[in-house]
Amino acid sequence: MNLDVLDYAIRHNPVRACIVIANFNNPLGSVMPDEKKRELVLLLAKHGIPLIEDDVYGDLGFMPARPTVAKAYDDRGLVITCSSFSKTLAPGYRVGWIVPGRFQEQVERLKTLFNIATASPTQLAIAEFLASGGYDRHLRRIRRQYAEQVAQTRDAVARSFPPGTRLTRPEGGYVLWAELPEAVDGLRLHEAAMHEAIGIAPGIMFTTGDKYRSCIRLSAAFWSKRVEQAIETVGRLARCSRACLNASGEGQGGESWSKGSTSVDARAPPSRGDRRRYSQDKQ
Ligand SMILES: Cc1ncc(COP(=O)(O)O)c(C=O)c1O
Repeated sequence: MNLDVLDYAIRHNPVRACIVIANFNNPLGSVMPDEKKRELVLLLAKHGIPLIEDDVYGDLGFMPARPTVAKAYDDRGLVITCSSFSKTLAPGYRVGWIVPGRFQEQVERLKTLFNIATASPTQLAIAEFLASGGYDRHLRRIRRQYAEQVAQTRDAVARSFPPGTRLTRPEGGYVLWAELPEAVDGLRLHEAAMHEAIGIAPGIMFTTGDKYRSCIRLSAAFWSKRVEQAIETVGRLARCSRACLNASGEGQGGESWSKGSTSVDARAPPSRGDRRRYSQDKQ
């Protein structure tokens, strides 16, 4: 996050709140350095603007020390830190937590209005898991596992994606951001992948503007032979999509590097079955 840009935005717009994922951000996997977190909290505090900190990936670092939260630099109660067990245990528990600072009352009122309360048995089970030390052991295991899966996914991408593809190397979490050659349209690639029952997120999903057209986000939450094959398929589709674009004159020129690959109509809409399979994929 560029704090000069944020400062400019605050001075020229009525900013009511700021939301960040400072640790292993989705989709880039980046971590905001401690000094930047402190500066961010100070900048917002100067203008009395609340900071909503989503720390949902904070427990999933591959390094021994957990990154700090921006809340650590908050002495005015303006930082609202929230997280959940969705990324570490299972999304189905629907259990998370919030440290609302001076907004406790409003947060409690909103929670009551939205769904009255979260089911007690799941909360009690998770509380027991935390108290027994089971959660810490589980975290140590999944951190290693995600580090390994991220490396396996990166290797698979390097083997099959078009030359010129750039890929993040996150130090936590399980999402990877791929920047493909400009001629590849991430949305078309996502649609073509859906026809093969493969879920990838197109880059344009992560912006309100028109950027990241040739980008996609991949998940490394699972690893298996099937996942490896799925990555190979996406790589083949990406090479093909560039070749097809070039063939139909829509591309940016350059050589076609997938002359023999299968023809896929990336523009056809997905079937209902494809949409159902896609929605089951872990994001
Ligand atoms: C950055 C981020 N925050 C929060 C959530 C959702 O968490 P929950 O399942 O607890 O609603 C997600 C899930 O996709 C996420 O990616």
